[in-house]
Amino acid sequence: MYLEINQIHHGDCRELLPKIEPNSIALSFWSPPYHVGKEYERGMTFKQWQELLRDTIALHFPILKPGGFLAINIGDILVFRDERMLKIQAANPSRHTHAITREMVLAAKEKYPHYNRYQLAELLGCSEQTIDRRLNGNNIRGGKYATQTRLKIVGGFIEECGLAAGLFPYDQRIWVKDPAWANSQWHTLSYRAVDEYEHVYIFWKPGITVVDRKRLTRQEWSDWGSRGVWPIPSVRSNDDHEAKFPLELARRVIRLFSAEGDTVLDCFMGSGTTAVAAIREKRLYIGIEILEKYVKLARKNCRAEIAHLPASSDTQTKDPERSVQLRLIKDKPSKG
Ligand SMILES: C[S@@+](CC[C@H](N)C(=O)[O-])C[C@H]1O[C@@H](n2cnc3c(N)ncnc32)[C@H](O)[C@@H]1O
Repeated sequence: MYLEINQIHHGDCRELLPKIEPNSIALSFWSPPYHVGKEYERGMTFKQWQELLRDTIALHFPILKPGGFLAINIGDILVFRDERMLKIQAANPSRHTHAITREMVLAAKEKYPHYNRYQLAELLGCSEQTIDRRLNGNNIRGGKYATQTRLKIVGGFIEECGLAAGLFPYDQRIWVKDPAWANSQWHTLSYRAVDEYEHVYIFWKPGITVVDRKRLTRQEWSDWGSRGVWPIPSVRSNDDHEAKFPLELARRVIRLFSAEGDTVLDCFMGSGTTAVAAIREKRLYIGIEILEKYVKLARKNCRAEIAHLPASSDTQTKDPERSVQLRLIKDKPSKG
């Protein structure tokens, strides 16, 4: 018995993916845990996180239709403290409020080698913190002695997993989130940019892929279908789930990489965004989610979407069985 279509299933995707009918998924679109300490990934080591991704991607090969796609939304990670990156931060001269330079402190230190920083401060007429900043770089209270965070670029790892699974990198999109920071006072004492984009990596399972230009209007092709960069505002209200992606992102991926009546999978379902987008775009869906509260949330969101389907909404596709399934979405809301 295979996993039922048009349902959100509760469980670990590594256990449930093998229960999906082989060669049945036209598109799988998901965003996994990012290894940034969210509730649903707490306690997971980096190695375990890598295993989760590797195993999940490998489990896709048998269930994807030949010619089908796996699209993964993920961002690079910046939470690794790397022992080799001690004190990368330099002094920030633009913030100096005191005319005391590092050279002045060094000269005083040379003259009075036994002086501690309090005595040097008194000598130079500044605070001991200023002495410390000039001598040791940044603010002692800002983690000056801490090892620094290193950027983990995840694209290479994801590509490796895809290839090992027998899938081929096909394309990618850059999702540019809204510049929420643009008007804020946000700044960092580094040369790093604000975190305002993520990737969508698209893999292809070898097989015949029908390229149907009618999936999008002419305007949509030129606005986003053929474009590599997609500016889409991120989700503002994260009160019911802490890491939702926008419905518009899911809609675009679904409209480009699947046809009406196809089955779309999200095995990190979260609040149900992919399923809701699938319903709206006349696709079937399968959702998998490990946390019960999100299973309930996703089911609720699907029910709400179905309730809003216009009564006249067309459920006809070229495949009669798919048309029946689509009608079922309208008639029989998901359980739970
Ligand atoms: C980044 S969130 C996905 C959010 C989703 N795209 C949305 O818009 O709501 C990842 C989700 O995967 C779930 N998850 C984590 N590990 C899982 C696993 N092994 N199997 C299934 N779901 C898992 C988490 O509980 C979380 O809801």
